[in-house]
Amino acid sequence: MIGCSGMAGRWVDWLSERLGDRVEIAGLVDVNEEVLGDRGGKLGLNDDQLFTDYEEACAKVKADFCGIATPPQFHSPAAIAAMDAGMAVICEKPIADTLEAAKAMAAKAVETGLPCAIIQNYRYAPNKQELVRIREEGRLGRLQHIVGRYACDYRKYESWGKAWRHDMDFGLLFEGSVHHFDMLRFLSGGDCEVFQGFGWNPQWSSFKHFSSGIYLMRMNNGVHTAYEGNSSAAGVTNCWHREHYRLEFEEGTVEVGGDEVGVQITRVGQEPEVYDAADMEWAGHEYLLKEFVDWLDGGAPSATRIEDNLKSFALVIAAMETTVDGQPKKIADYL
Ligand SMILES: NC(=O)c1ccc[n+]([C@@H]2O[C@H](COP(=O)([O-])OP(=O)(O)OC[C@H]3O[C@@H](n4cnc5c(N)ncnc54)[C@H](O)[C@@H]3O)[C@@H](O)[C@H]2O)c1
Repeated sequence: MIGCSGMAGRWVDWLSERLGDRVEIAGLVDVNEEVLGDRGGKLGLNDDQLFTDYEEACAKVKADFCGIATPPQFHSPAAIAAMDAGMAVICEKPIADTLEAAKAMAAKAVETGLPCAIIQNYRYAPNKQELVRIREEGRLGRLQHIVGRYACDYRKYESWGKAWRHDMDFGLLFEGSVHHFDMLRFLSGGDCEVFQGFGWNPQWSSFKHFSSGIYLMRMNNGVHTAYEGNSSAAGVTNCWHREHYRLEFEEGTVEVGGDEVGVQITRVGQEPEVYDAADMEWAGHEYLLKEFVDWLDGGAPSATRIEDNLKSFALVIAAMETTVDGQPKKIADYL
């Protein structure tokens, strides 16, 4: 396991608490020796199972798979080192910090034939699963377009976890919108053909670079999407787990957002129908970690395997480029 505090610390908890009967952590890596020693002690690991360097860990630890939950620029080199050492990989989003690094990681998965999955935990929430069922079962007829909204009040420096998220270029896109672009693919049932939009940084932002943006997509199944991303929200917020999605179907509108499970269906001339989506035994990260372990045990490949999730990551790169030059982007050019 590469990383052991922050999101990585939560992975260690999920792996040991929910999958402890199937997963044993054989080695732990972190550049922060304090969290490494602390976490290693709690897991009962020996000194020769603790590392500050992923390359040394990949060379010395014999394991079936490697989990990676470090900041984005370390994902691809660590994943490639792990696959070169014969380990399957499950890695946090975004896949990497550049398209080249993401493609190198995907190419290594193809070359080695090893499973490589990317975390897209928001797909595995009860209300998002319900939205997909409504579309797939045609309960409200055909879908024409989706409007998605993310808005968090991160006006205070370091309010979005660590300082690096406020200091990096295009933090909204790499750390935030990658989830929402992936969600718009998931909810629409299509892949993006054409992408365009704008990004900006309000004067009062706590970010060094753009905290906000508006982006449009035309999907290859005819569905259109519009997305508002705002990490400088001061009024109506739709922060993590409460992002607002509105799907316009032939026979009504479906919305989610106010809470983590609620779904609202509105049909012209009728009272809105509001209900909680069916509960899930495995949701979010826990779903993805279990799906991955099942894959290693001979089950179906993860839906968010790197070969497919590269299509979500390409949207981040396209968003970055359309923000800079104002031109629409064809996603096929990135893949
Ligand atoms: N899916 C989600 O909902 C979600 C939520 C938060 C963060 N994340 C993702 O998780 C990843 C980590 O984010 P975070 O906020 O936990 O970051 P963080 O800065 O807290 O780092 C996580 C851990 O990685 C360690 N680390 C940093 N560089 C390392 C290196 N080169 N080698 C080994 N260990 C290293 C840190 O010391 C820390 O313990 C990012 O990719 C982020 O996008 C995902």
